[in-house]
Amino acid sequence: MKRVLLIGNGAREHAIGETLKRFGAQVFTYGKARNPGLVELSEGYEVGDLKDFDAMRDFARKVSPDFAFVGPDDPIADGTADMLLEMGIHSVAPLQTVARLESSKSFTRDLLAKYAIPGNPQFKVFYDDAGMEEWLKELGEDFVVKADGLMGGKGVKVSGDHLNGHEEALAYARECLAGGGRVVIEEKFVGQEFSYMSFCDGVNTAEMPAVQDHKRAYEGDKGPNTGGMGSYSDANGSLPFLQQSDLDEAAEITRQVAKALFEETGAQFKGIMYGGFIATAKGVRLIEYNARFGDPEALNVLPILKTDFVNVCEAIIAGDLKSLPVEFEQKATVCKYIVPEGYPENPQKGQKIEVGAIPEGIKMYYASVDQTDEGLIMSSSRAIGLVGIADTIEEAEKAVQASCSAVSGPVFYRKDIGTQELIQQRVAMMQSLRG
Ligand code: GLY
Repeated sequence: MKRVLLIGNGAREHAIGETLKRFGAQVFTYGKARNPGLVELSEGYEVGDLKDFDAMRDFARKVSPDFAFVGPDDPIADGTADMLLEMGIHSVAPLQTVARLESSKSFTRDLLAKYAIPGNPQFKVFYDDAGMEEWLKELGEDFVVKADGLMGGKGVKVSGDHLNGHEEALAYARECLAGGGRVVIEEKFVGQEFSYMSFCDGVNTAEMPAVQDHKRAYEGDKGPNTGGMGSYSDANGSLPFLQQSDLDEAAEITRQVAKALFEETGAQFKGIMYGGFIATAKGVRLIEYNARFGDPEALNVLPILKTDFVNVCEAIIAGDLKSLPVEFEQKATVCKYIVPEGYPENPQKGQKIEVGAIPEGIKMYYASVDQTDEGLIMSSSRAIGLVGIADTIEEAEKAVQASCSAVSGPVFYRKDIGTQELIQQRVAMMQSLRG
């Protein structure tokens, strides 16, 4: 039985832990709160700060794992995999130098440009004010301003959405310069976004089913951006608005990026390369990379992974991914997140929720909740992820929708995620873009 040290305590880590256990591993979790799902499935559980490397080291020493899995972006960017490697523990998570793929937007844009990898927008990286105004004029009405570092999903601001006009763009760009010393200003794409995650052993990649996440808080894709209110995937591994060529282009970009990362840094990327892509009228473009599983996307793909996940993790570490057929069940999935009222701007914090009977076949993952003597208490973030799995998206949506009422308390969720109406809007948009 393999012993795995799992870092993190959200729904994504609950899904990772559950899948490791499904394939026979013993899971030992280090997280900043007690996720009831992870507490139940773990052989050992330590609550601690994810920045506290001394505490993590002590726990790792006690556990003596065969390998580690680091779930969230912050500890990956902080170099948790490097710290564990110094102790002789290999991780399914990239070393800090290649984790810059997520933690530095300018690093990734420059990497694609230097190695002539397709998918980049027109972009410029600024270290001070000089030339910013002129570049915005060149881009015109449509632009994106990106803070360079990790900003908890709040660093990217888009024209017509968060930024009205060049004055606001310049003000935000200056804020980014003051905060991180660097800002990326780039062309805005029009199309449909999709998440395409790959296992990567440093050389070889194995793609997972494509997923579409829903960032906006309210139905009809309205309201403020969130960590993701829910997501869906289709039984054929693609999405109803995509063509096979979109997936092929995206996978090829990821393969080339893995190669370029090694050439650039001398370190191999071992972990999950999560490409946030957009299908446009002119083909696939890269919005950004993350160096970890997506959340909620992990909740869509991990429950339908057919290949032994422990073997996949070991193959990533050994650089031997090509020896495995990485396969998923041909099932559609729909995930809906139950979140506190007021989320994301004025969430009810510390409120109690109750979870009633979850219908058979529905997967439930605990996110930002704490199991206390008073019951299940929400933080200010997403609380519970529910996932329906079926032969079609329509059936999966109906099944998960019927399960949402099992969670009671001051919460809400998006009823429209995975519905035929919403999906048809996306299909129609891409049809009109592609002419
Ligand atoms: N699905 C958004 C994220 O994981 O960052």
